[in-house]
Parts: sequence; structure tokens; C-alpha cells
Amino acid sequence: MNADYSLAQFVEALRSIAATAAEEREILRQVAPLAERLAADSKLLNERPVNSIAEKGFSFNLLHEEADHALAVAILSWLPSGATLPHNHGTWGIVVGLTGAEKNIFWRRIDDASRPGYAELERVGEMECVLGQAVVLPSPTIHSVENCASEPSVSLHVYGKNVYYTGRSQFDIVNNREMPWGIKT
Ligand SMILES: [Fe+2]
Repeated sequence: MNADYSLAQFVEALRSIAATAAEEREILRQVAPLAERLAADSKLLNERPVNSIAEKGFSFNLLHEEADHALAVAILSWLPSGATLPHNHGTWGIVVGLTGAEKNIFWRRIDDASRPGYAELERVGEMECVLGQAVVLPSPTIHSVENCASEPSVSLHVYGKNVYYTGRSQFDIVNNREMPWGIKT
């Protein structure tokens, strides 16, 4: 397979798919193999981020988004033992592991979401990232991510919208709290 597939080519395809696909499931089905193709391109890690956000344990390096923050492409890097809290994205997502060992833990909400700021989650499964293979995250997904190795992990992320602008939440499962997770101002 020709591994040459630039970020610009990927973004062009992303725009076309998002403009023509009738539903999210169709976007995910079409974008997943292209995200794998982009992840296989050795030049991807030479791309200069347009924005970088450092979080506790990981960093989010944005490579592309549209003017309204739609169609975001980012490289995320987790430090050894870095992890996120369980969170949703407020949009669809596709993740492809580039190096290291990331584990996805999947959660399900079991309360009725009627109390603001309150949430009960149940752990429903986990999956080790297979390098080069897309993990598809439909909009309702709640997951957490852990780097379970002693080296940093790096992965390619594609989202329907930059997740710092979607109104997503992260969850404190000890205190049953739902907390907004957006841009810090
Ligand atoms: Fe996530």
C-alpha cells in the first residue's frame, strides 16, 4: 500500500465525507480507514501543531480544525501512567495508536441525568489500543484512557468538532460528579 497520505489530503477527504454522509455512522465508517492511512504516514509527526494544550498527564496538539472548530485532527501524547478521567466528547471521534500502549476503558451512565452535576457510571469494558487500528467512538461514548506502559504513548485523534468546544463532560466516579471539560479561560 502506498503510505504517502498527507494531512492536507486527509482534511480534504474529511470535508467531503462530512458534507455528504447522511448520518454519523456513515462518517465513522468512511473516515476510519482514512485515519489509519494518515496514521501510517511517517511524515505525520513532522506536522507543526496549530495549538497545544497541556493537561495533567497528557498533551493535546491540534493539527487542524475548521474556522468553526469542526473536523478537528490532533495528536495526543500521554506520559507514562498518564490517564484521563471518564469523559464524553460531545461529538464523534476516531483514535489510532501511533506508539506506546494506550488502554480505553468504556463506561455507561446508569442514572437518568436529571440532577445537574450528578452522574453515576458503570464500567462496561476495556480495550488495549492496537497500533495502527482505528478505535471508533460514536457521540454517546463515555471512556477513559490510560497509558499502561513506561514510555509515552502517542495517538492520532479525529473529531467531528474540537472537543474543547463541544460542551463535553468529565466524570468523578468516586463522588458521582459530572464536570464541564472545555477551554480554560
Ligand atoms: Fe476521549
